[in-house]
Amino acid sequence: MFQNVIVRRPCKAMVEGITSNPQLGKPDYEKALRQHDTYIEALKQCGVKVTVLPADERYPDSCFVEDPAVITRKCAIITNPGAASRNGEKDEIIGAIREFFSEDKIEYIKAPGTLEGGDVMMVGDHFYVGRSARTNEEGIRQFIAILEKHGLSGSEVTLEEVLHLKTGVNYLENNNMLVSGEFVTKPEFAKYNRVEIPEEEAYAANCIWVNGTVIVPMGFPAVEKAVRDLGYPVILVDTSEYRKLDGGLSCLSLRF
Ligand code: GLY
Repeated sequence: MFQNVIVRRPCKAMVEGITSNPQLGKPDYEKALRQHDTYIEALKQCGVKVTVLPADERYPDSCFVEDPAVITRKCAIITNPGAASRNGEKDEIIGAIREFFSEDKIEYIKAPGTLEGGDVMMVGDHFYVGRSARTNEEGIRQFIAILEKHGLSGSEVTLEEVLHLKTGVNYLENNNMLVSGEFVTKPEFAKYNRVEIPEEEAYAANCIWVNGTVIVPMGFPAVEKAVRDLGYPVILVDTSEYRKLDGGLSCLSLRF
């Protein structure tokens, strides 16, 4: 169960955030704020306390708080984001992490290692880590060493087609996993009850489980039905403005 969630309000500069989908257009900032409000309300409905950090205009992508930190049952890990324009976000998340973890429970990924939290998928005490354009071999080596120091484990997953691991695969607890694209055939996920997401709804593979409820992006009926068919209550949240920046439901929060 999660007790806490950390989010950061989107900044006006988000319209200059990194994107691989410029054809979707620039985000509408006011609409993004409204969607963020709805996201926070959905999280609260799932019984968590939400800590809302203020917007940070220096970092256009800083609303995607999942990337500069990873929080486990045993420790918090400040990452070293591989995207140059995002790297400084790691220094801005530490204050919030210190509200929940003492210094001996805070670990750091150090250069030349890079890692972004979007590449980390938690399955109980095991963490799958995507080796991506943002997360390198040394970052993964350090990350797994930290996990093992705290009695947890991790393993690497290679990826080629998407930004982050959780862009295409997400664990919904109870052995259920949403998989799309290149992750459908990954042997390491064969032991899970994999629900294959159709190509045209691939964006919605990024759903989040929060205390028994699954938050699903609005506008993806096949994924909504698949999640309901697994037996989960569903809350729909429109993330259209974050999608324009390759962002989704998981990227927008740290859940622990
Ligand atoms: N726009 C989110 C990211 O590229 O990290």
